[in-house]
Amino acid sequence: MFKIVEKNELNPLEFEFFVIAPRIAKKAKAGQFVILRIDDTGERIPLTVVEADAKKGLLRLIFQVIGKSTATLANLQVGDCLLDLVGPLGKATEIKKYGTVLLVGGGVGIAALFPIIKALKEADNKVITILGAKNKDLMILATECGKYSDELYLMTDDGSLGQKGLVTDAMKAIFAKEKIDTAWAIGPSLMMKFSTLTASEAGIPIFVSLNPIMIDGTGMCGGCRVTIDNQIKFACVDGPEFLGASVDWDDFINRMHQYHNEEEVALKLYKGGV
Ligand code: FAD
Ligand code: FES
Ligand code: MG
Repeated sequence: MFKIVEKNELNPLEFEFFVIAPRIAKKAKAGQFVILRIDDTGERIPLTVVEADAKKGLLRLIFQVIGKSTATLANLQVGDCLLDLVGPLGKATEIKKYGTVLLVGGGVGIAALFPIIKALKEADNKVITILGAKNKDLMILATECGKYSDELYLMTDDGSLGQKGLVTDAMKAIFAKEKIDTAWAIGPSLMMKFSTLTASEAGIPIFVSLNPIMIDGTGMCGGCRVTIDNQIKFACVDGPEFLGASVDWDDFINRMHQYHNEEEVALKLYKGGV
């Protein structure tokens, strides 16, 4: 059992948990994730490790309420326990000195980007960060990301914080004035697809972190199958990070939505609407 020792509501849709998991906290690196189950009838929920404090034995997790399982998770309180928590899973981000790096995060993807920003700054890179959200209230971790960034640009759909526009608008402006050696984009699928197109047009390699439906997280069930350079890969063991230009985006996006009807019914039943 894994106890929740701190819970914070970042906004009405996004929550932060600190969970006691000393063995995972000792090993987890930027780019890796865990899979948890709330109880023995629950789904397996993959979440990125936002921070791992080896000394305190704590994992920091941030999630957005999107369906039944994340809504159930958001109802847990300090002192409650998760039934299982496995990890760290997936390959860690390759952290080294690239030179000048561009980090682009959207929505709850900012939570997955933050540990990479921090690690790349600690590896002595010049870090330029662009964060995007629908509005000011849904922008998370801007101050923390800013702490590890040489330059920080905030974009919102409605202009309520930073500049009004898309993260790709800010990417184009940066590519026009600065030589970027490598980029990362983490966020909704369409945002990662278009960030890849924008970086590729400028001739800049860009990594994305794919979040297909995962079940076991160990390469055995095939649920997280993705097509990379026309080859089948499993995001849980071969990724989740891949070069954006290698990803078959149409295949990825179609597979993300394959259980949409069932997910809608599960959420309605959970809310008592059916
Ligand atoms: P549902 O209503 O069941 O599904 C809504 C949508 O969520 C689906 O259409 C599908 O696209 C996605 N989804 C559903 N089940 C899964 C599943 N088992 N695995 C992956 N995606 C699923 N979300 C966060 O908020 N914070 C994170 O740090 C985070 N990190 C992730 C890291 C990885 C490696 C992966 C694969 C996913 C990550 N996610 C993260 C996504 C998160 O796991 C899903 O949003 C969650 O499982 C949805 O469950 P649900 O029952 O609430 O939603
Ligand atoms: Fe089963 Fe990746 S989650 S193979
Ligand atoms: Mg679900």
